[in-house]
Amino acid sequence: MSETLTKTPIKIEPAAYSRISEVDFSNLQFGRLFGDHMFEMIFENGAWGDPEIKPYGTIDIAPAMNVFHYGQAVFEGMKAFYVDEKTINIFRPDEHHARFNRSCRRMCIPETDYETFISALESLIKLDKKWVPQSAGTAMYIRPFIFASEDYLAARISDRYSYYIITSPVGAYYKEGFNPVSLTTPDGFVRAVKGGTGEAKTSGNYAASFLPARKAAEKGYTQVLWLDAHQNEFIEEVGTMNIHFLINDTLVTPELTGSVLPGITRKTVTALAEEWGYNVEERKISISEVFEASKNGTLKEVFGSGTAAVISPVGLIEHNGEKIEIGTGKIGDFAKRLFDEITGIQYGRIEDRHGWVHAVKV
Ligand code: COI
Repeated sequence: MSETLTKTPIKIEPAAYSRISEVDFSNLQFGRLFGDHMFEMIFENGAWGDPEIKPYGTIDIAPAMNVFHYGQAVFEGMKAFYVDEKTINIFRPDEHHARFNRSCRRMCIPETDYETFISALESLIKLDKKWVPQSAGTAMYIRPFIFASEDYLAARISDRYSYYIITSPVGAYYKEGFNPVSLTTPDGFVRAVKGGTGEAKTSGNYAASFLPARKAAEKGYTQVLWLDAHQNEFIEEVGTMNIHFLINDTLVTPELTGSVLPGITRKTVTALAEEWGYNVEERKISISEVFEASKNGTLKEVFGSGTAAVISPVGLIEHNGEKIEIGTGKIGDFAKRLFDEITGIQYGRIEDRHGWVHAVKV
């Protein structure tokens, strides 16, 4: 069996048996279970080799592999949604692939072609269509990633790379589900600086955020709210999502300064808000401005956006011992409208006027 959409057809080795009976679809967590198949492609001798889809399983790794020592790795996070028994929608795969390649360029990893990417996604979705969950709030999370796999201890650009795509049926990312999360600014830590790797989706950015995230969790907060590295004043993003502020009728989103991850859901949110007639500003926004807006009553809503998080209302922000509460402990009307519109398009309930959805006929 092979697909013909790619320059090189994808060789497919179907799994001999399915593990789907292990899945409790009524109690899905985030990223704990993986579809029966995975995509694999290896770069060596200066070129990507033949693409392959095979049963999900362990892979060969050697202790000297470059990625373990120097962290040369990138990943993406995207989702596919059950529409009906014949259709599964992948959301904005072109945008995800473009960002994947931008991350690769920053990390000196060879880029990949879109034809192979989309063909691999289609094949994985078709093969594992039964793994795509059907209830509200669930989706098939898709995780493409590439890592440096040359066995060589010198600290230099690898000559070999391994490219995989795995899938995972998921529920809500945060234990809060759709209820407001709480954020705290980190004490003495920064996420990224302009010119660094902040705008690339590279693994080390996340590893470096774990200690501040743990400290935030110990203080009882869901996530870290990152501020800029120079003045420790301007808001950048949250640990696993971008952030937005509704101040009166203006949607303010921290601008992409070079240290912020250019989120695909972030872009979707600002596009919809503009269409709906809101003032949309992508600019610097300081933590003092947010606290001031809270005090003078103009801060209407705060929410995060991300593939995993979707739209996540923020109910509390702590900074330097001071706290502000946002809203009434429930999701705000604007965030709810965004959530309904975005998920409506994703699940095929609302017409996709923007060409954001890639429908796979299964
Ligand atoms: C995503 O939203 O897909 C992400 O990549 C966040 C992730 C770290 C769970």
